[in-house]
Amino acid sequence: MSKLVGLVGWRGMVGSVLMGRMVAENDFDLIEPVFFSTSNAGAQAPAWAKNETTLQDAYGIEALQRCDIIVTAQGGDYTSAVFPKLRAVGWRGHWIDAASTLRMNSDAVIVLDPVNLPVIKNALSRGGNNWIGGNCTVSCMLMGVGALYKAGLVEWMSTQTYQAASGGGAQHMRELLTQYGTLYAEVKELLDDPGSAILEIDRKVIAKQRALTEAETAHFGVPLGGSLIPWIDKDLGLGKSRDEPGWGQSKEEWKGMAETNKILGLGEGFGSSPIAVDGFCVRIGAMRCHSQALTFKLKKDVPLADIEAMIAADNAWVKVVPNTRQASIKDLTPVAVTGSMTIPVGRMRKLAMGPEYLGAFTIGDQLLWGAAEPLRRMLRLLLQA
Ligand code: HSE
Repeated sequence: MSKLVGLVGWRGMVGSVLMGRMVAENDFDLIEPVFFSTSNAGAQAPAWAKNETTLQDAYGIEALQRCDIIVTAQGGDYTSAVFPKLRAVGWRGHWIDAASTLRMNSDAVIVLDPVNLPVIKNALSRGGNNWIGGNCTVSCMLMGVGALYKAGLVEWMSTQTYQAASGGGAQHMRELLTQYGTLYAEVKELLDDPGSAILEIDRKVIAKQRALTEAETAHFGVPLGGSLIPWIDKDLGLGKSRDEPGWGQSKEEWKGMAETNKILGLGEGFGSSPIAVDGFCVRIGAMRCHSQALTFKLKKDVPLADIEAMIAADNAWVKVVPNTRQASIKDLTPVAVTGSMTIPVGRMRKLAMGPEYLGAFTIGDQLLWGAAEPLRRMLRLLLQA
């Protein structure tokens, strides 16, 4: 009999991408889906339903308890409200979650099976049942350059990110586009006149950006269209001494090291020392692809051709982009990558600091490898187990 798989948050942005991938990969052929809703229990389940044709209450512990596996993309508040209750009543099923709430718990595994299948299998064999999707930036980065970590070559890595609006959520994407539209409208007449002065256009744009109302910047807090925001998520550095590593770090930056190591099964909790990962996380005006410029200090000087070959052979989705201007501007952009499972890695070159310093640039669709796909693949692993 097919496993009963509860789906929560399937209508939201990550959930919709997940449903799209599950349809594309015929996952519904292998499960009996139960669709849950936080607001519309009792209504008709979507077309992918089989025998369970009514939406169940996502807060209904009894209905959730029936499921062998629950996959949620409903968000952290939902996880906090429901997960402890469900475990408290003795539910032993598998919980697959896109939210970060449980990620760093010692009994949770951050799932990214092309990178950490051994860690997942090990946890499975010990009865693990909490499977959490990683931070999108970290997952996309490891899908690209995980080979270097697996080969034990990385002494440390610094990452400078260029993160898309979608990382904030659907409303953030709308806000970005609305801002672009507002700015365009402000100067449309001048743009239509080829004789107008660019500095006049520029003056009007900056005046408008600075005059955007609270409503027009409600989600990002400040203008993003035509600008950038060099801080993502909470301030975690507060309370630390200014001279301590970690002082002044954003939560997104903290996740880089914490999650990279946890995914790889390194550091605290695994009896080994962690690899240092740090850098700056920046929000830019892209829609749904996170990009990052990486600097590696390798443990030894490895020829660039070997590094490229290692990365190219690591998984079926990574694609090495030759470090040429043409290939980079064509294949190594959010516009090229959006909606695709491909993780391009390019701009690879030895840096001026020395032969063991490697630079690279990588991009991933943060709704696919950054969110939905690792969860979908974990479901598949559980169905095979
Ligand atoms: N925290 C990420 C971001 C999104 O804000 O871009 C999800 O991991």
